[in-house]
Amino acid sequence: MAEEVLEFLGQTAENCPPFGGLMVDGTVGGGGHARRLLERLGPQGQLAGFDRDPSALDKARAALGDDPRVRLIHGSYSEALDHLPPESACGVLLDLGLSTDQLDPERGFSYSHDAPLDMRFDPTLDLSAFDIVNHYPVARLREIVFQYGEEPLAPRIARGIVNARMAGPLKTTGELAQVVRAAVPERFAIKALARVFQALRLEVNEEIGHLEQGLEACWSLLKTGGVFCAISYHSIEDRRLKRFFAGKAKGCICPPRLPVCVCGKKPSAKQLTSSPLRPTPKEIRLNPSSRSAKLRAVRKIGRD
Ligand SMILES: C[S@@+](CC[C@H](N)C(=O)[O-])C[C@H]1O[C@@H](n2cnc3c(N)ncnc32)[C@H](O)[C@@H]1O
Repeated sequence: MAEEVLEFLGQTAENCPPFGGLMVDGTVGGGGHARRLLERLGPQGQLAGFDRDPSALDKARAALGDDPRVRLIHGSYSEALDHLPPESACGVLLDLGLSTDQLDPERGFSYSHDAPLDMRFDPTLDLSAFDIVNHYPVARLREIVFQYGEEPLAPRIARGIVNARMAGPLKTTGELAQVVRAAVPERFAIKALARVFQALRLEVNEEIGHLEQGLEACWSLLKTGGVFCAISYHSIEDRRLKRFFAGKAKGCICPPRLPVCVCGKKPSAKQLTSSPLRPTPKEIRLNPSSRSAKLRAVRKIGRD
């Protein structure tokens, strides 16, 4: 949805001339969106790109060349205010989740390839999928598979994992996939595998925690007139984006029984997407992993 993203990021106002200020790509990945953005940026424009994965930053560096307008930062967008001043940016983009480069079989994100149970975006972090699968108590396993995977058969799967690991640790994605397949009726196996692997990835990388903190951090980075664009790939993330943007776009929050407003809250955002944009059938054909993408965008119209 690169075209749509550029279109929204160009809809800045007030203190932000279109493509004239600092743009922040909070999840720069291989630099696909960033490269397109850079092509539009004027000479006064700058681009800061964050990623937790050092190998993604290497790819972004190769894609973006040594353009002096670019700064790449190893870290989470949720810590953006440690690197950039508040109210300094005219655009923020979050393209959440996993990049296709990270589906490299060695990294353990996919149930289709046998690999060590890892799933860390940032290999310098301690917690891996191995630790969760082999050391979390059954109740916690059940909870993450249910909450982050939205898998109704979570209790059976959690019990299956705990029973299997009594015979020795589950070391690979292949071993885990076998346990999941055995725990659910065959017709639900593929869905269950996708959900369990998603749940583990979200837990390993604390993605929801980063998203919740990161939305506020990125909002603080924006100048009035700046645009915030976010692409999510599953409902757990999209619900948070929807709630966050709707909260910023909402005015008075007084109880309806009060005849006049006493809270004084004014909207600090204007929604640029009334409902999320979805990729076109053509884009899905060219890039099947975009099929679940949802794009939302708002413009900051004032301070909170
Ligand atoms: C869908 S990809 C982004 C692809 C990128 N937009 C492109 O065009 O190449 C998501 C990227 O976000 C990174 N990521 C995930 N959580 C992050 C976080 N909290 N902070 C920074 N990067 C993060 C992942 O490592 C991955 O490289």
